[in-house]
Amino acid sequence: MKEWQHRRPNAPNRKHMTQPGKKVCFMTGATGRLGSEIALSVAGQGYTIFFTWHASEKKALELLEKIRWISPESEMVRCSTSKPKEIGKAFEAFRKKFDRLDLLIASASNFFATPLPEVTEEEWDSLVDTNLKGTFFTMQEAVRIMQKQPFTSKIITMADVSADLVWKNFAPYTVAKAGVVHLTRVFAKTFAPRILVNAIAPGTVTLNPGKEMETEEEMLRRIPLGRLGDPLDIVRALLFLLESDYVTGQVLAVDGGRLLD
Ligand SMILES: NC(=O)c1ccc[n+]([C@@H]2O[C@H](COP(=O)([O-])OP(=O)(O)OC[C@H]3O[C@@H](n4cnc5c(N)ncnc54)[C@H](OP(=O)(O)O)[C@@H]3O)[C@@H](O)[C@H]2O)c1
Repeated sequence: MKEWQHRRPNAPNRKHMTQPGKKVCFMTGATGRLGSEIALSVAGQGYTIFFTWHASEKKALELLEKIRWISPESEMVRCSTSKPKEIGKAFEAFRKKFDRLDLLIASASNFFATPLPEVTEEEWDSLVDTNLKGTFFTMQEAVRIMQKQPFTSKIITMADVSADLVWKNFAPYTVAKAGVVHLTRVFAKTFAPRILVNAIAPGTVTLNPGKEMETEEEMLRRIPLGRLGDPLDIVRALLFLLESDYVTGQVLAVDGGRLLD
């Protein structure tokens, strides 16, 4: 048998440190279309979920009820992640309830078209603050807890393949997502080996009626695998990152080959 064949995921020489007991996940954007599937799947992996909601109280209450069927100690709090003070308060509430943080999923986002000649300051601030500033300050709060823990924890940010493409009508959004990719790498390098930080970059999974600049047929023509993504495609990528302890600072594109364009 070759030397590498002896190595198995639970081999004792692993540096990854785990902590007994129920793992806890802090998640923003859990009421989103992908976000809710992700939150439920993470609960299904045995995590207690503490999630934030912003405008969708009804969705949040329904989601909490579903999550609590799987993970009864889960909680939620209202928070606008474009406001660092509110992020701070959400983490204060988190720390009152939980004494560990195993996983942060930073998924809060907004998205709308902004043709270059017409972008207003208000639109710029809304897109950049929600997608980038909020992600940064959420990650900052999380690492303040995680770096003091005697075990390995993880951060997963939600980027977008558009961070690597040139979309004429979405500059503030795509710039913000490019920033999320960069933050992911900076945090990964800064907090290794204790905190593993990766991004998932979905291609088009859900459509935004009235906000897209292309028809579905036009989008499909650009996707080598010939279909839009399914939330399950994103969940599978996330489960890979939860399982893996030798991947950090990466952006996992889940896009049907869209980036090959
Ligand atoms: N869906 C796709 O096809 C796709 C493609 C590429 C990338 N992505 C990325 O994947 C992630 C998940 O996507 P999704 O489909 O779940 O997004 P979504 O359906 O648009 O949901 C957005 C989420 O962000 C929250 N949010 C919006 N503004 C907020 C604010 N100011 N403060 C706090 N939370 C705020 C919303 O909360 P409320 O509902 O409570 O307001 C909601 O939970 C996002 O980061 C998105 O950019 C998605």
